Amino acid sequence: MYKLHIDKVTFAYGSPPSAPVLADIDLSIGSDEFVAVVGRSGSGKTSLLSLAAGFLKPTAGRVHIDGRTVEGPSAERAVVFQDDALFPWLTARQNVGFALKLRGVPKPERDRRVNELLAHVDLAASGDKAIWELSGGMRQRVGIARALAADPEFLLMDEPLGALDALTRERMQEFLLHLWQDSGAGVLLITHGIEEALFLATRVVVLAPDPGRVVADIAVDFGRRFLRGDTSRAIKSDPAFVATRERLRDLIELQDFEV
Ligand SMILES: Nc1ncnc2c1ncn2[C@@H]1O[C@H](COP(=O)(O)OP(=O)(O)OP(=O)(O)O)[C@@H](O)[C@H]1O
Ligand SMILES: [Mg+2]
Repeated sequence: MYKLHIDKVTFAYGSPPSAPVLADIDLSIGSDEFVAVVGRSGSGKTSLLSLAAGFLKPTAGRVHIDGRTVEGPSAERAVVFQDDALFPWLTARQNVGFALKLRGVPKPERDRRVNELLAHVDLAASGDKAIWELSGGMRQRVGIARALAADPEFLLMDEPLGALDALTRERMQEFLLHLWQDSGAGVLLITHGIEEALFLATRVVVLAPDPGRVVADIAVDFGRRFLRGDTSRAIKSDPAFVATRERLRDLIELQDFEV
């Protein structure tokens, strides 16, 4: 078990630094957890993820994994963005295997690993298709398989399902839960969807803006219930689910935000 710790972090863009966009964030994510962050636009969600990824450095405080300071991006923390930039001229298989190729993994081993990853994201039959031949949900799964190729301890995702239609998005949510269970990686998910956060996460963290700070950190177990066999429809209509959803909505609307 690893712990990614955003340890009393304050962050301001620019040099000299402008007003902080995140203030005194103290958030830890275990490699067995699925943490979803919600909050209005501009509350600092992407900045928080970029700090965890090592793309940005804290202005004060420290990001570390079990005491090892995060100095920059690394394969142990894989990132998936909303418009994941796949290489359009390569096939799904080549996209997934790209990082392995760069690392000099020999072809037979690379092929074996890529086949495993494609099967994992339910694309075993589509590996040789070009990116433009795939649907949005399929492309997103290629992006996730590519991130998993590095065998990360943490998967950091910024609105990965944001561009998908409602039905595909629901299927992808179920897919993400299975993936979380099977990959053994801790997940930090940024999402605009309150219901999505609640359905997937083991903890939902609410950020308030100006400057971004944590105003709620709520433990939930709906995703685990899904993995134990409850249907998503049953879970999403459960009074406990509805009540928590309304509570989260209140927390965010108090900040004047439309959801
Ligand atoms: N590269 C940058 N340089 C300067 N300021 C930035 C930069 N990126 C973001 N900001 C500012 O930091 C604040 C937080 O932005 P951030 O992108 O983290 O918010 P967010 O919660 O991800 O918003 P959204 O939900 O719209 O994606 C905003 O005020 C934004 O204007
Ligand atoms: Mg953002």
